[in-house]
Amino acid sequence: MRTNIVHIGASELTYEIRQIVEIANRVSVLSGKPIFWENIGDPVQKGEKIPDWIKEIIASAVRQDISYAYSPTRGLLATREFLVNKVNALGGAQIDPDDIVFFNGLGDAVNKVYGLLRREARVIGPSPSYPTHSSSEAAHAGYAPITYRLLPEKGWMPDMEELRNKVRYNDSIAGIMIINPDNPTGAVFPDHIVREMIDIAREYDLFILADEIYMNMVFSKEKHSSIAELIGDVPAISLKGISKEFPWPGGRCGWMEVYNQKKSPVFQKYVKSILDAKMLEVCSTTLPQMVIPQIMGHSEYPNWQKKRNEFFEKRSRMVAEIFSKCRGVVVNPPSGAFYLSVVFDQPLKPAMQLKMENPEVAAYIDSLCPPGVETDKKFVYHLLGSKQVCVVPLTSFVCRLPGFRTTLLEQDDDKFRHIYTTIAGAVEEFLASA
Ligand SMILES: Cc1ncc(COP(=O)(O)O)c(C=O)c1O
Repeated sequence: MRTNIVHIGASELTYEIRQIVEIANRVSVLSGKPIFWENIGDPVQKGEKIPDWIKEIIASAVRQDISYAYSPTRGLLATREFLVNKVNALGGAQIDPDDIVFFNGLGDAVNKVYGLLRREARVIGPSPSYPTHSSSEAAHAGYAPITYRLLPEKGWMPDMEELRNKVRYNDSIAGIMIINPDNPTGAVFPDHIVREMIDIAREYDLFILADEIYMNMVFSKEKHSSIAELIGDVPAISLKGISKEFPWPGGRCGWMEVYNQKKSPVFQKYVKSILDAKMLEVCSTTLPQMVIPQIMGHSEYPNWQKKRNEFFEKRSRMVAEIFSKCRGVVVNPPSGAFYLSVVFDQPLKPAMQLKMENPEVAAYIDSLCPPGVETDKKFVYHLLGSKQVCVVPLTSFVCRLPGFRTTLLEQDDDKFRHIYTTIAGAVEEFLASA
C-alpha cells in the first residue's frame, strides 16, 4: 500500500471468547469427541428455553407490518418512555426520553461510546474486564488499556487505592468504567464501592460509564443498586440490554441511558456526537424495541426473573461445593451475572501439562503452546485437548492473573456437575504435573 491503511489501534482488537471456538472445533474433529462449550455467555446456545408467553408477544409483533419499518434514531418513543418511567421511579437520576439511545446490541453501543471520545481522552476500566470494552477503548486511543485491579483475594472488589492514584496522576483519564454485576468475575459491587467511584469521578470532573447489562441478574443476599440510584449529580452513561435478560442475544438490542448530561456542556456535546453517529446509520433494530414494554411489563416477568436467578444461585453453590476440595486456585462463587473466574494461586511452571490420549490432538495443542505462551492459555488449551472442555484464559480479559473464565449456564444438572468436576480435576492434575 502507498500509505499505511492499518488503524493505530488495530492490534488491540482481540476477542479470545470467540477465537478459541476455531481451536475447539479442530480438537473436536481430531478427537472425534464433542466439546463442552463454556466459553461464551449465550444462555440460548446453552439450552435455556424462552418462555411461551415471550414468544407469543414477539410472534404478534412479527405479524405487524410496522415491525419491519425503520424506527426513530433514538429508538421507539413508547419504549423509551417505558424505560424512563422505570428509571425515574427509582428516585435517583431523573431522565426524559431524549436521554435514551438504542443500539444494535451493546457491542454497537460500546464501540460508539469509545470510538467517539477525543483520541487523548481515556476511560479507566477494571482488570479483568469484558474485552469488548477494553479492546474498543484501547483501539480508540491507540494504546494499551488503562486499568484498575479487581482483587480475587478480596472477593473481586476493586483496588480503590490504585484507581484513585491512577486517576490523580493521569490527566488523560476522563471516565471510570464499571461493569456491575461483573463479567468475567460474577462479582456484584456493593453501594459503598460504587459511591466511592462516583466520588472520585466528582472530585476529578470525570464521567461514569456503567455497563449494567446484568443489572437484574443478582442472586447475592446483598442489596444491589443501579447506577441511576447512586449517581447524584455526576454525568454518567448506563448501558443496558436484553441479550442476557430475556435472553435474546441474537436480537441485537441494547440502549444507553444518559444521566446528568446538562451538568457538563462538554459531556453533552460528546453524547450528541454519539446520537449523530447513530443517525448516520438511520436507526437500530425495530422489532426487539417494540416488544420490550410488553415483555418487561408482563405479569409473569418478575416471577420468571426470580426463578432464573434462583437457578444461577444454585449453580453458584454447586461451583463453591465442587471447588471447595480443589487446591491451588482462588474461587469466588458468583453473586450476579452468570460467569465464574478461577485464578491460580501460585505461579504456573512451563513444564505443567495435562495428558492427551490422542497423538494428533496432542501435536496440535503443542503447536499452540510455544515456549513463552501465557501459562493460563496453556492450561486452557490442554484442558481442551485432554478433556474437551472449552473455557477462556483469564489473561484474555486484560489481566495478568493466570486463570480462566467459565459460565453457569449449563441447564442440565448432571452435565454441569460433570463439567466442573472435570475442570477441578484438571486443575489438580496440571498443578501436580511439574
Ligand atoms: C458486560 C457486557 N457488556 C456488553 C455485552 C454485549 O452485549 P450485546 O449482546 O448487547 O452486544 C456483553 C456480552 O457478553 C457483556 O458481557
